[in-house]
Amino acid sequence: MTHTAPTILATPLSNVLTTSNGNPVDDNQNSMTAGEFGPILLQDFHLIDKLSHFDRERVPERVVHAKGAGAHGHFEVTADLSQLTCAKFLQKPGTKTPVFARFSTVGGEKGSSDSARDPRGFAVKFYTEEGNWDMVGNNTPVFFIRDPLKFPDFIHTQKRNPQTNLKDADAFWDFLSLAHESLHQVTILFSNRGTPNSYRHMDGFSSHTLKLVNAQGVAHLVKWHFKTDQGIKNHTLEEAAAMDSSNPDSSTEDLFGAIAKGDFPSWTVSLQVMKEEDAANYRWNVFDVTKVWPHSDYPLQKIGKLTLDRNPSNYFAEVEQAAFSPSHMVPGIDVTNDKMLQGRLFSYPDTHRHRLGPNYQQLPINQPYRAKVSNNQRDGAQNFSENFRHFPNYEPQSQEPAGPQQQLQDIRAKYTSVKLNGRTGRYGHNKTDDDFVQPGNLYRLMKGKEQDDLVKNIVAHMSNVKNVEIIKRQIGHFSKADPEWGRRVEEGLKAAGKHL
Ligand code: HEM
Repeated sequence: MTHTAPTILATPLSNVLTTSNGNPVDDNQNSMTAGEFGPILLQDFHLIDKLSHFDRERVPERVVHAKGAGAHGHFEVTADLSQLTCAKFLQKPGTKTPVFARFSTVGGEKGSSDSARDPRGFAVKFYTEEGNWDMVGNNTPVFFIRDPLKFPDFIHTQKRNPQTNLKDADAFWDFLSLAHESLHQVTILFSNRGTPNSYRHMDGFSSHTLKLVNAQGVAHLVKWHFKTDQGIKNHTLEEAAAMDSSNPDSSTEDLFGAIAKGDFPSWTVSLQVMKEEDAANYRWNVFDVTKVWPHSDYPLQKIGKLTLDRNPSNYFAEVEQAAFSPSHMVPGIDVTNDKMLQGRLFSYPDTHRHRLGPNYQQLPINQPYRAKVSNNQRDGAQNFSENFRHFPNYEPQSQEPAGPQQQLQDIRAKYTSVKLNGRTGRYGHNKTDDDFVQPGNLYRLMKGKEQDDLVKNIVAHMSNVKNVEIIKRQIGHFSKADPEWGRRVEEGLKAAGKHL
């Protein structure tokens, strides 16, 4: 494994055309035939190699977040965080860590529109000296559901109908109306924040509560916020529709274009910090990803800046093959009991092994190149490392030369322990939670036009729902959050011709 920046990005190209085994190609225009007008010969390795490699050019697209754009840059920590975390890259103000960020829409296919109404993915890979930390968040501080068991069903309703292969408004609202914990995220999604003007003009959030752990093993609960320095800009319904047809790649183009001309986007990074022991008595379940912590309770503390200043030199190698996971962590950053997060810890590396193969961490864009990877994982498809050469491939071991040994003395590498009690079971979420309070507060926080646009965007989308019972159920949720909101949606749908 290399210990320097990914080499594929800097390798100069030879200008001599060769086959994949390095043989100079004499003729790239004419296949080898038996006689001038005869059939093609099997011995034409160049043709067979070229066609068969082409046949395999596509890897599976991401099952969600398939359409995206990415860029390189760095994160500079601007505060001394040693009281909160022992993560080496967060110790000293001024320390810069290289990063790769990828932004995405969620539901659409790889060729879908950048202007779709959808949350936006906000994923950042921090190449730290202690390994890679991936912050795999969204441009929204909350999510639709809070149990990973629901995720595949939820996503199916956002994709295409199994029979018609069309987007299905009935499935979309049927699921959401039967999973009312989604209302908070629905409120954000149907505000104009559901159609950001570009990736540069949106914020990013860890959404989940994560942990920071200091050198004494003391943990704090934190939420990460990335506030755009470009200012928030969103499309209205009409602008998004116009952009959809005129330039479905608008956000991809905007990000690449800005960086190409030296207009580097940046985000001010802040934390909300909570003492671990405060969680039990807080008004909201801090492990419920459908809830925020109001800033009045836990104000933002600025800790750094993320800047993107280099475009990928190859989209497939760097953006398509990038593999982010909430389980890629470093000492000093830890997981919490958030059930959704726990599900994600498994799901991402699992999909990477399917999408990119078991050695996906060896791909240059994914290599933890500032740390030295040393373990007993060997062989496997597409292993293009030195495969740890002749060193022993087991541990514990006592031979010379020695292989990698576990470092028991480094307590920082340990997970923090959590006290548990109770019996195993399938528990519904904290019954005292009120899923309608935060969405109602958000509705009331919106100013006149923001509220008008929210109602308009909902009405435009729900007009496509055929089953009136689904509409009524969802209106019930809006009304429960705020009676005026429910009434306005109902009136809007009636004006649009729905018989409710
Ligand atoms: C991508 C699963 C919830 C943010 C993905 C991918 C899967 C997945 C399988 C494709 C990854 C790849 O092919 O590389 C899940 C599951 C979830 C969940 C099972 C819930 C149990 C969330 C939440 C967020 C989120 C709550 C944000 C807070 C993202 C982002 C990507 C992604 C940003 C794209 C990463 C990239 O740019 O490559 N998710 N997800 N996901 N997910 Fe989730």
